[in-house]
Amino acid sequence: MKLLVIGGGGREHALAWRLAQSQRVSKVFVAPGNGGTATGERMQNIPITDVQELVQFAQTENIHFAVVGPEAPLAAGVVDAFRSAGLKIFGATKAAAQLESSKDYAKGFMVRHQIPTAAYATFTDAESAKAYIHEQGAPIVVKADGLAAGKGVIVAMTEAEALAAIDDMLGAGSFGDAGAQVVIEEFLTGEEASFIVMCDGQNVLPLATSQDHKRLKDGDQGPNTGGMGAYSPAPIVSPTLHNRIMREVILPTMNGMAREGIPYSGFLYAGLMIGDGPDATRSLKVLEYNCRLGDPEAQPLLMRIKNDFTETLELAIQGKIDQASIDWDRRTALGVVIAAAGYPEAPRTGDSITAIPEDTEHCVTFHAGTALREDGVLVSSGGRVLCVTALGDSIRRAQEKAYATATKIQLEGKQFRNDIGWRAIPNSDLS
Ligand code: AMP
Ligand code: GLY
Repeated sequence: MKLLVIGGGGREHALAWRLAQSQRVSKVFVAPGNGGTATGERMQNIPITDVQELVQFAQTENIHFAVVGPEAPLAAGVVDAFRSAGLKIFGATKAAAQLESSKDYAKGFMVRHQIPTAAYATFTDAESAKAYIHEQGAPIVVKADGLAAGKGVIVAMTEAEALAAIDDMLGAGSFGDAGAQVVIEEFLTGEEASFIVMCDGQNVLPLATSQDHKRLKDGDQGPNTGGMGAYSPAPIVSPTLHNRIMREVILPTMNGMAREGIPYSGFLYAGLMIGDGPDATRSLKVLEYNCRLGDPEAQPLLMRIKNDFTETLELAIQGKIDQASIDWDRRTALGVVIAAAGYPEAPRTGDSITAIPEDTEHCVTFHAGTALREDGVLVSSGGRVLCVTALGDSIRRAQEKAYATATKIQLEGKQFRNDIGWRAIPNSDLS
């Protein structure tokens, strides 16, 4: 059968790679794909991003089902369009994707359903927003309401920074429509964790635990990025926390969406802030929802799936995810992102990428911002260029293997962290 993966990042390369390993699959089309999916075994890129063109393509090619990677096509209604045409697709509808595409919607939803989250207020008027910031004081967090490619959140340590963010979003309109409304939020402290599940409108299948590193520099310092690496499992999510997250966050979210007439299907990612203290009582708050797999969390997660993932997705599409289970590799998977010079502010593109070691059973280099030039040269085309992902018997072994490969890859001005996974290593000396 032929499948379609929508998107072109590292997460989509990993999805296509995992799906292409199924005996049932003859080809995985990736729209638009990247330099990795251009040459991957049983993969083919198609240069389409328009929703109606994707529907036509799926019909013409007799695609068995489609799966959506990033948020933009979800927010553009790709799932609604496929379903209207009688095509099978796994992802959130446009209405459900508001959990990610509008922070104000997500906050209101959490309040309506008593899902724990930071206190907040929403503004469209700069003067009222500034008055609120004066009243609350710093630190405080300013968020553009809409999708801003991971750049719409300003964690302001001073009032001045928060006020500048307001000027930027509501005054200068730097984020366009996405920043025409802002959410101002209480500053939370603790350790962040990602919790990702698959939903079929009624039932939930939690994926293995995972954690990413958002800061550019070692020791979780420097500017926020889309993610400089990730690993699975994530020891912070103990069985006690796992149960609490399901009970306090995931199930109320699923049930709340169903009660509001917007049944949730697709991947659902809750970004959590977990306070200090014993697991049974420490504070647990939702920082954000994403209606998709995390990137780069998806790369280590997909590397650990041992069963035929096409079957899991089919059950999810049929509303039978309660009958599915995933056979997780017991080993740890860890992915190291190789980013371009200038990332995240102004990534340089067009640099050639060479000396990528051959993939092995234990180590795969997933592509993200890469493109295959007409002359066959692989070049960088985005901020996060590659994610080298390795499996190991311990997190240290996985780390050693991923770094052995990452250090060999040649890309002018490449940036990567040397300590991905440090939080999961007991008494880490890498921190
Ligand atoms: P978000 O896109 O909402 O997850 O925000 C991006 C990053 O900003 C998060 O991963 C956190 O590191 C940080 N952040 C977001 N909201 C808060 C908050 N209320 N308090 C502290 N940090 C936050
Ligand atoms: N790695 C964080 C995200 O995908 O949003």
